[in-house]
Amino acid sequence: MNTFIFDRFHAIGVIPVLEIDSAAHAVPTAEALSAGGLPIAEVTLRTEAGLDSIRNIARSLPDTLVGAGTVVNLKQAQEARDAGAQFLVSPGMAEDVVLWAQKNTIPILAGAVTPTEIMRGLNLGLTLFKFFPSETMGGLKAIQAVSDPFPQVRFIPTGGVRFENLADYLRMEKVHAVGGSWMAKRSLIAEGRFDEIRRLAEEARRLVETQRQSLE
Ligand code: 3PG
Repeated sequence: MNTFIFDRFHAIGVIPVLEIDSAAHAVPTAEALSAGGLPIAEVTLRTEAGLDSIRNIARSLPDTLVGAGTVVNLKQAQEARDAGAQFLVSPGMAEDVVLWAQKNTIPILAGAVTPTEIMRGLNLGLTLFKFFPSETMGGLKAIQAVSDPFPQVRFIPTGGVRFENLADYLRMEKVHAVGGSWMAKRSLIAEGRFDEIRRLAEEARRLVETQRQSLE
């Protein structure tokens, strides 16, 4: 289930995690990311403008995959879906949200870091997890160690992933894709620095391509 969207996560390689303060900035931000080779946006619901931002991107940019991040309860999941979110991301494992998403066939990336959380996710039928906050939780070493008992599991680490450590993350077999805010930081979006966002997206995308070619 959810194969298409999860395959897109892998193909694009880097999922921009956005905090948008004004919904008017949503489309230009997503356009800049897409022009840089990242036609995907996880718009977090941490700001008041989150839902409207999702709505604007979903309406205006049909080629961009838009999802909602920081989904912590059912109400947010429903609102995000109604606004046009094509996927949901949760920092942790909320079973009611996962079950609702599955019933409504909307892909969900839920957070799991410990063996217990991973087992709860597996029991719900999940095999792809957000690993958050990655660097604080031990980064690649922690992902490798926790993967040993769960060979079928893959992760999307976020939290402390930057251009500087991106290659190390992409190189790891257990890493399906990464997420991060470094190419479209809240301040860059708020200041309308879309050329810079495009440049940083291009830089990240180029590294994904180089990395993938070296693995072929
Ligand atoms: C997230 O919600 O995934 C994180 O806030 C992104 O972490 P970063 O800002 O360290 O990239």
